[in-house]
Amino acid sequence: MRQHTTFRQLEIFEAIARLGSFTRASEELYLSQPTVSMQMKKLAEMIGAPLIEQVGKKIHLTPDGQQLAQATREIFGILDRYTMSVDERRGLKQGRLSLMAITTASYFAPRLLGEFVKLYPGIDVSLRVTNKEQVLASIADNLDDLYFVGQPPEDIDVVATPIMDNPIIVIAAPDHPLANKKNIPLERIAHETWLMREKGSGTRNAIERIFSGHGLNIHPRLELGSNEAIKQAILAGLGISALSRHALTLNQPGQFAVLDVEGFPILRHWYAVYPAGRQLSVVARAFLDYLLGREDAAPAKAGKKK
Ligand code: PGA
Repeated sequence: MRQHTTFRQLEIFEAIARLGSFTRASEELYLSQPTVSMQMKKLAEMIGAPLIEQVGKKIHLTPDGQQLAQATREIFGILDRYTMSVDERRGLKQGRLSLMAITTASYFAPRLLGEFVKLYPGIDVSLRVTNKEQVLASIADNLDDLYFVGQPPEDIDVVATPIMDNPIIVIAAPDHPLANKKNIPLERIAHETWLMREKGSGTRNAIERIFSGHGLNIHPRLELGSNEAIKQAILAGLGISALSRHALTLNQPGQFAVLDVEGFPILRHWYAVYPAGRQLSVVARAFLDYLLGREDAAPAKAGKKK
């Protein structure tokens, strides 16, 4: 196999295995789909066994494919470590920073990254924004330098550093009858019509926890998969909700009423997380230091190990 398989083929295979899609792998590698398919056909022929099976639109790795995926992860891990040592020699003039952020973190992560890149223009950055499940899977696979999450994973050994406050506030349309009331009891607000993020959302978990801690239940009228959809539904008069204050960053002041509810804001943090075994690159370490040095950095319980 070694004599015939090219590095490019392994690179394509690794991308398909990681992204679960020929299309996304071809986009990531700037290759045409026929090239990707052809290279995977050749790779399977050289190995002498099918590696990828396609059932409808979904692809699955065969047992041989899974073994090869493991091997490619190791190979690229070694190469990443090599690149890192080269980066270290070059300092921060060049290098790469690969970040992943959970949905709501998209309201602040690009801005922080933009500020950092202004300081170090030679650095290439990538930021992927995705849901909790994919963030957890990527942390487990050790694919990126740092992850922005609202709650560090409990069943993966990570180093979690709080980098910023993440207050969860109750919001309603500006003409809502409770808009000017003070200290609204939790029990009263529980009877309102609630709009909620999808199950598994960190924001939703935090809201449910505060109500269940007081023996209260809320019954969402609508479940919506994004903060933007929740905001639109509130403005359409469909109900109230609670969101990270960061989700209002780009809204005009006064566009929503922030309700004064007992127990709110829920004080949470944003965390930068990386797998405990990972050695941060010079660039990733510099970015983390930069985050902690910012004025709005959370009081650093830095480097807290979960
Ligand atoms: P989200 O936010 O999962 O609700 O988008 C992350 C979090 O606050 O934990």
